[in-house]
Amino acid sequence: MNHIFSDRILNSKKSFIREILKVTNNKEIISFAGGLPNPISFPTDALQKAMNKVIEKNGSHVLQYATTEGYLPLREYIAKRYQEKHGLSVSAEDILITSGSQQGLDLIGKVFLNKGDSVLIEKPGYLGAIQSLSLYEPHFHQVGLQDDGPDMESFKDTIANHNIKLFYSVPNFQNPTGITYTYEKREALSHILKNTDTILIEDDPYGELRFLGEDLPYIQSFGSNYSILLGSFSKIVTPGMRIGWICTTNHEIMDKLVIAKQASDLHTNYFSQRVIYRYLMDNDLEEHISHIKKLYKEQREAMLLAIKKYFPENVKVTQPEGGMFLWVTLPDSLSALELFDMASKEKVAFVPGEPFYVGIIPSNTLRLNYTNSDSASIDLGIERLAKAIRELSAK
Ligand SMILES: Cc1ncc(COP(=O)(O)O)c(C=O)c1O
Repeated sequence: MNHIFSDRILNSKKSFIREILKVTNNKEIISFAGGLPNPISFPTDALQKAMNKVIEKNGSHVLQYATTEGYLPLREYIAKRYQEKHGLSVSAEDILITSGSQQGLDLIGKVFLNKGDSVLIEKPGYLGAIQSLSLYEPHFHQVGLQDDGPDMESFKDTIANHNIKLFYSVPNFQNPTGITYTYEKREALSHILKNTDTILIEDDPYGELRFLGEDLPYIQSFGSNYSILLGSFSKIVTPGMRIGWICTTNHEIMDKLVIAKQASDLHTNYFSQRVIYRYLMDNDLEEHISHIKKLYKEQREAMLLAIKKYFPENVKVTQPEGGMFLWVTLPDSLSALELFDMASKEKVAFVPGEPFYVGIIPSNTLRLNYTNSDSASIDLGIERLAKAIRELSAK
């Protein structure tokens, strides 16, 4: 039946993670595979109040079609937060409300990519970006990630020798590795990009979830020709309402994004925008975020402690200062896909590294999510995983 489908969909793969999540539906399995925020962090009661209030006060108006750019007070709120927290000079007109930051990625693909254009992503990179941008059939290049950010020699070399249309980065608590770019690397990246037409994309769904260390400036704060920030309420309020945004001060880019958005879905769910805005007005977001950070910090510590206790010493892990993931590198001889099968028998799940790469794929890496299990399950799950690693090593 392939002849009825477009090349672009035939060349795109199903999300490997969605497939893995099917395995983890079994209640006996302790899953570190998902990428979900902890549901106890959702402000359910406050959102219910906000929902009622919005309907009572605004009636049918909030159920009507609305503008493509998004609800103006919400855009003003987001712009003000960037000004206050990051000193960025942005206003409401620089914000386009999207259906999650995932839609931002799709719109970026629509606006910038012709088939065969070169896109630079991190190695390993966010699977959802690989999937979303793949539909525009670019040529992917990957720059290796170190504990402090991209490998700068490789970055410089790729920018100098390939005509890179856009560089997609997740500088804070990256998905899948949990690493954060240092101040020095951000500044150096900006210097390299400043002399090019490469569009810098900074995707930042986890930036507000820093539980250790100090906030760092965005790469584009050091200056850049063309730059875009993606943001989202998914990890700090709720992912289910699908409210994210694109921020760019370049008006020509914004105009094109608005056209692409109009063609895609006219506008983001207006009722969700109004409810989130009401929630933000009637509640203390900082206090809410500090609860989430406390929770995730404890879970992250429980996982690192259990890893220290149970894992063989030749297994390496990252030390995230925020966000939801950590990244494991097994000795070269071990395959994370084989480990996945062994771990399933021990009733513990994770995501093997494979889907986070394009081109040459190292087989010995995996992602662990720590935000969806309590400390006792984390301890037990890591003990089971360590058993599976030892069994695989002994094979
Ligand atoms: C790096 C990154 N970008 C974007 C997204 C999508 O988030 P949203 O819910 O805002 O669409 C995720 C979700 O996990 C993510 O990890």
